[in-house]
Amino acid sequence: MSHLTHGPHLTRCAQRLTTRMFRSQLTARLLTAFEKAGISLPEGTRPTVVLAADTRYGDYQSNTCMGLAKQLKTNPRALAQQVADALDVSDLCAKVSIDGPGFLNFTLGDAALSAHVLTARRTDQLGVPTATPRTIVVDFSAPNIAKPMHVGHIRSTIIGDCLARVARFLGHHVITDNHIGDWGTQFGMILHGWKTLLDEAALEKDPIAELLRLYKTVNAAAKADEAVMTTCREELVQLQQGDAENLAIWRRCVDLSLDQLRVIYAKLGVRFDHYLGESSYNDALAPLVENLLASHIAEISEGAVCIFFRDDPTLADKPCLIRKSDGGFLYATTDLATIDHRINVWHATDIWYVVGSPQELHFKQIFAASHKRGQTASFQHVAFGSILGPDGKMFRTRSGESVGLIEVLDEAIERAAAVVAEREGLSDEEKATIGETIGIGAVKYAELSQNRLTDYKFSWDKMLSLQGNTAPYLINAYVRTRAIFRKLEGTPEGAGEIEAPAQLVFTEPAERALAMKLAQYAEAVHDVLDDFRPNLLANYLYELATTYHAFYEACPVLSSQGDIRATRLILCDLTSQVLKSGLGLLGIQTTERM
Ligand code: ARG
Repeated sequence: MSHLTHGPHLTRCAQRLTTRMFRSQLTARLLTAFEKAGISLPEGTRPTVVLAADTRYGDYQSNTCMGLAKQLKTNPRALAQQVADALDVSDLCAKVSIDGPGFLNFTLGDAALSAHVLTARRTDQLGVPTATPRTIVVDFSAPNIAKPMHVGHIRSTIIGDCLARVARFLGHHVITDNHIGDWGTQFGMILHGWKTLLDEAALEKDPIAELLRLYKTVNAAAKADEAVMTTCREELVQLQQGDAENLAIWRRCVDLSLDQLRVIYAKLGVRFDHYLGESSYNDALAPLVENLLASHIAEISEGAVCIFFRDDPTLADKPCLIRKSDGGFLYATTDLATIDHRINVWHATDIWYVVGSPQELHFKQIFAASHKRGQTASFQHVAFGSILGPDGKMFRTRSGESVGLIEVLDEAIERAAAVVAEREGLSDEEKATIGETIGIGAVKYAELSQNRLTDYKFSWDKMLSLQGNTAPYLINAYVRTRAIFRKLEGTPEGAGEIEAPAQLVFTEPAERALAMKLAQYAEAVHDVLDDFRPNLLANYLYELATTYHAFYEACPVLSSQGDIRATRLILCDLTSQVLKSGLGLLGIQTTERM
């Protein structure tokens, strides 16, 4: 029986099991204790509880009393004592202590920890509580047709997909939208190139590359020759005015590119609910600008239409241009029309834009413009830095070309396949699938394990290494958990049906440490959306894998007996499920063998 169909999954829906995060439970209890002790916290603040920095003192800690004592000019330890006296956590904690200058340290009780693990194992959410649902549009990837797809689009695709998966997992209503750049001045050059230079065979073979060639060739020619530039401009005007021939060529360019993009997205396992490119909003632009003028949100300035933000010091001298003096519309105009659609038709409460840092000003402007219009959606520009080559300079592929997503993926798969090729006991077909899983997983993980705002160095050797904080290491940890259950194949235990004791028994520190790590999955997943940081989940999974390896070294599983064996099997099973689920949230697949 395969892992996917094993016993507990079948009974999951029938049981209504609820799990909570220890961190938020402790926070809530602290809040009550502050109230009971008559200590008031500053307006709008809550006590904070974090994972203990030093686990010798406990599992969680709070330093709220220290900050507060400073403000109240009292002794922090005495304040902590007052809070501790009023605190009721007997059902959760085995010990609460006041340490150092006034830390409150919490050690979870084995019963509470055990109950969490046993419940988590039997729920689809693996112990992660759901959030109050919101309707979130995630705008990511969004390459430009017939223009090079650069590394920024790779980062956006991988980060955006992960954020959408996490939000869905937490119970939000998520709509993914690929706002393709399918309308813009580049089409003047493409149309001219199409009519004079098109190589049909090349177009057939690799449309994105052929369109890019046309664009580059004409772009160079237009720079050198004013007459070519004029022709391109005329082609563009014709297109914008609805000329049938130009529209037909444009449509073909877009369709061919989309077909090829879809192949790449399928390879990546990335899915969009909508592909509403910039062109979808063409008809909405003129009325939108008129409406903004009529409502005095926009005004005419030197023949152009602008939105001014005079009362915002950061934008006071940076008006948002929405119609040029020649009547042309801009990127910002399209984005405002797009917001209308997302709010009015999809009822979005939140819109996240996963786009590189250079567009920061653009997003500040359109968010401010939207708020000026009275729209109340919550906006987020999830920005990111650049990917650098191993030499610290701009990233290029082996062939030295500007880097494209397809080349990166193909090279990753090829390199991973070379590693897998040396493995014994796997069929060629298995090797190919594993190579693909690991190659793509490695590229995604290298991205997601970074702080998105810092530039990072792209290194094939590092990302494909079986050691360290990499996808191959994590996938291998998963494979090791599965190997145990494969040895039990044919028995109920092999199918994950483990006779659970009423309470897990912890005989070795490594067992309890692993149970603690597993319980923290709940917190790690929620933390991702606090500041849009997939690296928090990646790092959590890495810690889980290392904790598991330590457990595996210290605690024989199959040769143990009774409740100890059941406890260990349950820990292995939940580790397996959390690794698969967590990697899945990063958009990374697992494999049963490698
Ligand atoms: N096509 C744009 C670019 O490549 C990104 C679009 C991002 N989304 C948006 N709604 N502006 O720079």
